[in-house]
Amino acid sequence: MSIGVGIIGAGIMGADHARIIAGQVAGAHLVAIADADASRARAVAAETGAGRATGDPYELIADPAVGAVLIASPDATHPDYAIACIKAGKPVLCEKPLAPTAAQGMRVIEAELSAGRRLVQLGFMRRFDPGYTDIKGLLETGRYGAALAFHCIHRNATAAPHFDAAAAIVSSCSHEIDIARFVLSAELTRVQVFRARKSSLATFDDPLLVVFETDKGQIVDVELFLNAQYGYDVRGELVCETGCLAFGPAINTAVRHSGVTATSLAADWRPRFATAYRLQNQAWIGSIASGRPAGASAWDGYIVTTVSDAGVRALDLRSPVTIAQEKRPALYG
Ligand SMILES: NC(=O)c1ccc[n+]([C@@H]2O[C@H](COP(=O)([O-])OP(=O)(O)OC[C@H]3O[C@@H](n4cnc5c(N)ncnc54)[C@H](O)[C@@H]3O)[C@@H](O)[C@H]2O)c1
Repeated sequence: MSIGVGIIGAGIMGADHARIIAGQVAGAHLVAIADADASRARAVAAETGAGRATGDPYELIADPAVGAVLIASPDATHPDYAIACIKAGKPVLCEKPLAPTAAQGMRVIEAELSAGRRLVQLGFMRRFDPGYTDIKGLLETGRYGAALAFHCIHRNATAAPHFDAAAAIVSSCSHEIDIARFVLSAELTRVQVFRARKSSLATFDDPLLVVFETDKGQIVDVELFLNAQYGYDVRGELVCETGCLAFGPAINTAVRHSGVTATSLAADWRPRFATAYRLQNQAWIGSIASGRPAGASAWDGYIVTTVSDAGVRALDLRSPVTIAQEKRPALYG
């Protein structure tokens, strides 16, 4: 049986998800697109063959032909749409972050707890990226000893116009917060944010160095540089007791010419993580069919919001902040 998917948000991510659901995912078909700007919804529906377009996301959630909803509207809209889907009993793939703050994220957790079942998967697609899954798999062989430190680089060519340093932590760094917890099977306990000399090409403090400690005594450092100009560059190196596990940003062939070896960088996250988005969306549809949750849960999304709240406080205070540890409800295993 094929699951009818409706997508809320027809911007960069919503259009990309629409193409993936329409063309690359088995067991699903694209039914409808909603966007506050109905003309955007219509354009993406026309491009991807979705039969319906609306300017009212709640109409899409209520549509009986929509069996599952993918939320790709701006961060602040995620909790209300996710809660409406939970109340309608419809599975959700919600783009990261779950919410801009932990207090807003908790509303989604409360909705799932009162529904008594997990309906939300968070769009932390790096959990499906071969770079991260390889290093997690290698770490778990035990061959390299314990993980000691995780160095992460997160550079974009240019930041979105509405971004500031807090948004860099809440929205961009949310990926590293989630993937560090996932790769290390650890919780983040303390955070400190250092401001480098500000790039003259940035409108906010950029780059930042965000340093976390984990409950296993590890260090996770994240260089966030959202106006790096030269391309999209996400990579990491996991330092273990007897070896280092690294993955690079390149997705293309290396060219050696005129004394230089060159590999192309992706222009942005979509080509870099194309495989991860496809695998994530397929896992979401598979999980709806099987009833077995996949990927990051709403609880994972909520924990990320508690960590990013602490990160924003550390940014403002210019000093380390302890991250309160939360008790995981039984629903989340
Ligand atoms: N997983 C990832 O790698 C990744 C990458 C980029 C963005 N994101 C997330 O995806 C989401 C969308 O980002 P984007 O880059 O596509 O943004 P975008 O600005 O390109 O698109 C957002 C769309 O939402 C629409 N919109 C605005 N307010 C709305 C509302 N109240 N209800 C419904 N639609 C509304 C806008 O008209 C626009 O078409 C954000 O939450 C962002 O953090 C995730």
